[in-house]
Amino acid sequence: MNCIGVLTSGGDSPGMNAAIRAVARTAIANDIKVFGIARGYHGLIEGSIIPLQVRSVSGIIGRGGTILGTARCKEFFEPQGRAKAAAQLKNCGIEGLVVIGGDGSYQGAQKLHAEHGIRCIGIPGTIDNDIGGTDFTIGYDTALNTAVEAIDRIRDTAASHDRIFFVEVMGRNSGYLAMMAGIAGGAEEILVPETPTDINELIQSIRNGRARGKTSSIVIVAEGDDAGKAIDVAKKFADASEFKDFRVAVIGHLQRGGAPSAFDRILACRLGVGAVEALLDGQTGMMMGLIGNKVELRPLSEAWEKRTRFDPTFVRVARVLAT
Ligand code: ADP
Ligand code: F6P
Repeated sequence: MNCIGVLTSGGDSPGMNAAIRAVARTAIANDIKVFGIARGYHGLIEGSIIPLQVRSVSGIIGRGGTILGTARCKEFFEPQGRAKAAAQLKNCGIEGLVVIGGDGSYQGAQKLHAEHGIRCIGIPGTIDNDIGGTDFTIGYDTALNTAVEAIDRIRDTAASHDRIFFVEVMGRNSGYLAMMAGIAGGAEEILVPETPTDINELIQSIRNGRARGKTSSIVIVAEGDDAGKAIDVAKKFADASEFKDFRVAVIGHLQRGGAPSAFDRILACRLGVGAVEALLDGQTGMMMGLIGNKVELRPLSEAWEKRTRFDPTFVRVARVLAT
């Protein structure tokens, strides 16, 4: 293999730049040409492909977002779109592709390989930490710390006013980020899509807390919770209870930006080096993951077939400690 490409796709996450840097520098260290592809599959179809040099990735290890840009690309769902993408890669002599993104991006990569023989290796980048084949995704740790800092700040004002706050945490259909943010932030309740939410139980739990001397409460609501978004949960809660004075805070995209944590940078470095080495070994259709603190190669399909879920014991930990 003489030439590879790297792209970021789907939602951005802190640490993607560190992964781009690791891929570019590992390729160059192995005398392989490396191209950066702008705006994910969208840029690939359009041919927005630029050569990367060692200095092209200087100073980015600590920068949030992705210098390559990212996108969600409808055309890539269609075989014609993927054929255009493959033609662009072949025009540039790119034989292998490193796809930094989530499981959707991996599904696209798998089709690109199956239909056009482009060798693909995935690197998991998403704040949601919901991808199988790895214990942690790049960006999750940073997002978790951002969410916890936000919760700490909200607790200051909640405690000062004896208020109930409903705090919405991202994660799409996964409650992983919300569960961990809630535990680390000492939340009274954590509502996640993995467990059914009963508003009456929630009200009773808050009442019990009051009876035990709590004067304020923080309820974390995962954005994908079955009872709805934080604002919906808060309204249902207030309508069915004596607690009428509440506030809602949606942390939102603050969780997606910012300088990556040291953990995310190191994870990105390890997975980036591993991804290029895997391509050089002739691997394809695989993702790099961190399993038990070891970098491992797993089939891309594990990303969506064996999704990472938080261990159910965390629910008990959260409950016991919220007393
Ligand atoms: P993520 O990679 O973070 O899960 P998405 O699910 O939005 O993000 O996927 C990113 C892009 O990957 C999509 O916009 C599309 O271009 C491509 N993609 C996703 N799923 C598929 C699929 N099943 N087949 C082909 N391409 C896909
Ligand atoms: O997958 C990352 C994520 O931030 C999810 O937590 C969230 O549901 C989604 O992306 C938001 O996507 P967008 O940035 O397109 O609004």
